[in-house]
Formats: sequence, structure tokens, C-alpha cells
Amino acid sequence: MAADRRLAGRTGDASAGLDVAKIRADFPLLSREVYGKPLVYLDNAASAQKPRAVLDAIQRAYAENYSNVHRGLHFLANASTDAYEGARKTAARFLNAASESEIIFTKNATEGINLVAQSFGSQRIGEGDEIVLTIMEHHSNIVPWHYHRERSGAVLKWVPVTEEGEFRIENFEAALSPRTKMVAITHMSNVLGTVVPVKEVVRIAHERGIPVLIDGSQGAVHLPVEVQDTGCDFYVFTGHKVYGPSGIGVLYGKREHLEKMPPYQGGGEMIDTVSEDDVTYGAPPYRFEAGTPPIAQAAGLGAALDYINDIGKDAIAAHETRLRDYAMERLGALNSVEIFGRASNKGAIVSFALKGAHAHDVATILDRSGVAVRAGTHCAEPLLARYGQTSTCRASFAVYNTTDEVDALVEALIKVQSFLA
Ligand SMILES: Cc1ncc(COP(=O)(O)O)c(C=O)c1O
Repeated sequence: MAADRRLAGRTGDASAGLDVAKIRADFPLLSREVYGKPLVYLDNAASAQKPRAVLDAIQRAYAENYSNVHRGLHFLANASTDAYEGARKTAARFLNAASESEIIFTKNATEGINLVAQSFGSQRIGEGDEIVLTIMEHHSNIVPWHYHRERSGAVLKWVPVTEEGEFRIENFEAALSPRTKMVAITHMSNVLGTVVPVKEVVRIAHERGIPVLIDGSQGAVHLPVEVQDTGCDFYVFTGHKVYGPSGIGVLYGKREHLEKMPPYQGGGEMIDTVSEDDVTYGAPPYRFEAGTPPIAQAAGLGAALDYINDIGKDAIAAHETRLRDYAMERLGALNSVEIFGRASNKGAIVSFALKGAHAHDVATILDRSGVAVRAGTHCAEPLLARYGQTSTCRASFAVYNTTDEVDALVEALIKVQSFLA
């Protein structure tokens, strides 16, 4: 125990210039207890908690500025439209997109990928053409392509990972062929934490004229994202994992693609003209935002991205890296724990199994100690199958987590071991 405390001191939480206690105070939910114990929230890869700035922005959107957007000429319609379009500008800056017209608001990352698979994919990918994915994709970046495959007769090709969870660029290159028409790849695995060298991936794919979609659902919150520098064709992320609200996601698409892509859904606000006999479609991004968009969610998302920028992505990443290293060290010291994912470039996600125990039992017992982790397939069944697993536990870290919380996880796991022994 004394050793544990020394370790906690060594990896202190005030490092990287972050005042974690102050950051925690920004998140009202973190002060609650569960089962009479302080909450230790380590399920951030599933969804992150929200700072007061986000809650206030959503409250203001409804209490002060609420109206539908783009449709009215009155004061509130303009105020609401300005706020919505302001969030689009914030998202464009967050990704370093060339223009806010390259930013489409969707309901989540999943919808962004479906949009690309159906609209862009239907134009480009036909029978016998190949779509290259990695084995560590989330189902959200698998099933839309399966859907396409079922309809078009295209073929899915899979880039493997090593036992350690490394993505090897030579394996990626080997998966490409003259029939490859699309690469859809995660920025960071939601199970292994493996970070994919996306700039290199895009360079290699583009040399062969292959477009690349990056699933940034995990990457956008933990890693720097510069879509112009990366050169990717599409980048998606989801509001609720970047400390923003659920119900909104972002799809970045290069203007040259968006202009040529057919609509994904039809409805209000995405048209140019409609008559009894004809319809013409609006310009991007509106062509892809049929119906009333997520108005208050956009205000919340803008506030969340500002919140991240105010703290600084580098400082957040440095803090999360320390938490990851500490968690790997402490969990790795438990003989009965098997860790999945030891890639050299790895984000703040640690998946593990306790030998002889089912992940659901482990997570349920941890929960009674106030420790929230995820257990299951993490919507990555092909990856779990690669490791011969049907479920694992996953601890995933955010800017507000502390080394004390890692200690709480380890201590609770030691209790689980004795309980199940
Ligand atoms: C890597 C990855 N991709 C996609 C998603 C899907 O996000 P959403 O359900 O918000 O669309 C997730 C969510 O867990 C994820 O981790």
C-alpha cells in the first residue's frame, strides 16, 4: 500500500500544468456517490461527462435563444441560426478544416460513416471493388461497409494487428490492391488504444488514388487533429465523447467530394427548389442536413470544443498518458490480469481480463466499489475474436481522472480476486 501511494505521488496529477482538482470541479456529476462510495468514472471511451460550460450552453440555447434555425426572419431565428453556424465554425477550427462548409452536423459518428458509405460509396464502389478496414474497427466503421457490400458485391479486406496490438504500415500496404476503392480506418482503437499513423496511411492510399475516411471517435478527444495536414478525405467524430452532448456528431468532408456527392436523406432545408415534378438540392453542407438539425446540441458541442481548447490538447494528452502509464504499471503488476493492447503509440485506454472470471462479473463487482468500467465486446467483435475473447473489461481515462482513481480500480480488482477465489 505504501508503495502504491509513493507511485501515486510520483505520477502526480498536478503535472503537465493541469489543475485536475479544478477541472473536476467543472463536472457536476463527478461529485456524486454511487452505493455510498465516491464515483470513479473510467468509462470515458463510451461517453464522457459534461462540464458546466456545456450544460450552461445547452441551457442558454433553450432558455435565451431558442427557435428553429435557417427558417425564420425574426430575431430568435437569427440568434439561433448564428449560434448553430457559430458551432460549425468552431468545429471547423477544431479540425483545422479549410472551410466551415466542409463540416456536416450528423446525429453521431455512426451516422457520418453511414452517410459516406451510402452517398460517396454508392458512386465509387461497385461489385468486386475492395474496401480496406482494420481488424480493430468499431462496428460503426464496419457495419455501414458490410451494408454496402451486401448491396454492391464489394469486398471487405482487413488489416491485422500484432499480438501487442500494433498497427504495421507494411500490413496496411499489403492489404491495398488495384481494386481498392476506399480505406476506412480508426484514428485510435476503442479497445486497444492503438493510435494509427493516419498521415502515413493517407499518403500511401493517395499515392494509389484511394480515398480515406478516418473514424476519429476516440482520436478527436485524445489526439491532435489537423485534417488539412493529414490530407484525409473524411473525418468523423461524435459529440458525447468530447465532453459534449449526445445527439450530435461531426463529419468533415473535403469540399471537392461533398460537392459531387448525392444527398443521404431527403427533407426540409436540404433542397434548392422543389416542384411537383422535380427537386434540386442545396449546396454542402446543407444538402446533407435534412430536417431540423440538432440545434441545442450544436451549442453544447461548440462549448465542449472551446473547453478542450482552453485547457489545451497537449496538456490533456500529457495528463492522460501519465494515467495510462500508471494504470498499465499497476494493472500489469497483478498476476491474474491480462492486458490487451501494448502498442508503442497507445492512447489512454486499458482493456483487460481477470483470469478465471467473466468480464461482466468483474465489472459488476467493481461497480459496487463505485468504479465504473465497461465490460463486453466494446462493439469490436472482429477484434475480440482475433484475441480469442468474447468480452473484456475496459478502463478509459479522461482529463478529469486521477492516479488515485487508478488506485481505486486496482484496489477494487484485488477485492474482486479475493471474492472470486
Ligand atoms: C472508435 C469508435 N467509432 C465509432 C463509435 C460510435 O460512436 P457513436 O455511437 O457516437 O456514433 C465509437 C463509440 O464507442 C467508437 O469508439
